[in-house]
Amino acid sequence: MSAEYALFSKEENEILTRTGPGTPMGKLLRRYWLPAIKSDEIPVPGGDQLRLKLLGEDLIVFRSTDGRVGVLDQFCPHRRANLFFARNEECGLRCTYHGWKFDLDGNVIEIPSEPDFEQWETKPRVKAYPTVESGGIIWVYMGPSGQKPAPPEYEYCLVPDEHRFVTRRWEECNWLQGMEGGIDPVHVPFLHKYELSTDPLHRGTAGADLTSATNIFYDSVDQPYGANVIARRDAEDENYYWRIGQWIFPCFTIAPPYGDFAMGSNAWVPRDDNSFWRWIISCHPTRKLTKTEISAMEEGKGTHVRLNDDLKGIANRENDYLIDREGQRAEKTFNGVYTVGLQDKAMQESQGEIHQRQFEYLVNSDKSIIKMRRRLLATVGINEQGGELPGLTAVDQRIRSASLVKPKGIPYEELSEDILVSRKGTPVTSI
Ligand code: FES
Ligand SMILES: [Fe+2]
Repeated sequence: MSAEYALFSKEENEILTRTGPGTPMGKLLRRYWLPAIKSDEIPVPGGDQLRLKLLGEDLIVFRSTDGRVGVLDQFCPHRRANLFFARNEECGLRCTYHGWKFDLDGNVIEIPSEPDFEQWETKPRVKAYPTVESGGIIWVYMGPSGQKPAPPEYEYCLVPDEHRFVTRRWEECNWLQGMEGGIDPVHVPFLHKYELSTDPLHRGTAGADLTSATNIFYDSVDQPYGANVIARRDAEDENYYWRIGQWIFPCFTIAPPYGDFAMGSNAWVPRDDNSFWRWIISCHPTRKLTKTEISAMEEGKGTHVRLNDDLKGIANRENDYLIDREGQRAEKTFNGVYTVGLQDKAMQESQGEIHQRQFEYLVNSDKSIIKMRRRLLATVGINEQGGELPGLTAVDQRIRSASLVKPKGIPYEELSEDILVSRKGTPVTSI
């Protein structure tokens, strides 16, 4: 492929980036279980409910008195008071304006001001979505009721809680430019140049040293569930160093691992069209995470970010991510922003709220991104036609990333055959 540019039209960009109710991409995303909030954000049955914006919809998430999780429209169907102010009562929410009560399935079960309510033939409802709890995450299904898939089986859903650390943060740009950053190995030795040798969840591994090389062969190999995203560098003694990441339909990625550190899975879930929820699920399949690793992640290391209450991060767009120009000149940081997660956030948000793809200049090394967009557009079409969708089965979801050094003579298909499948108790292939 020669250097190319502006391969995507304004119209295609609209399809790729608009995710509200009734939009083609919104309909595709609604066919999957999506992470909504962390389980520990609403730990107590009958406790405080949370407001949540997802795919442009305003929702309320609450843990019922019996421990189940409900997701309802944020606005009462009566006269639209906000259910943030509702009472979390016996197995349901009660609007505090006129006392209507709703169960977790969206039925209105009491209207105290209407004595004959029990006899009404048609009763009002509030919009409600099913949930499932897995991997320390509350997942929500916002699609057609007859098409709800089996619960998620990503590797991090299947490990003990002590093997996993999860953060959710608010990113102030469209979901797709975020996910494009997640399958873009080209930026790593530039944007994260200094973190490869300083970040406590990268440094000291053979992989981090090898990743600093910028002479790279990039490829993307289609898979039934999405794609393998490949970066290949020369290593000593006629070997190649391979980094293999994963994209799983529609909005999940797994970064290639470093050494014995936890593997970093991601979800890129639209909040609305101008913002998204960035999920990072650090998971080690075969051992508990150490206290040191967990406190590093809480401090915003690895790809996590130090968060404040609104989940936008202490360093954010408003304060230019606390850019250090002196540090940039002194070769302490490549772009002046510190930590991997914040560097990604800064670059993705700097592309504008919705990246305008009709104005870009794409080159060979953007191959994985180009292929992903085409596949997304094609799959939007498949969904419109009622066809079968990728990424919905356990086989599609039980996969891993890998990093390894192998002799140059071994073709990709052969070296990747076994190592990309997650099997309980088997270690990740990682250097
Ligand atoms: S607005 Fe909720 S009960 Fe009236
Ligand atoms: Fe990055």
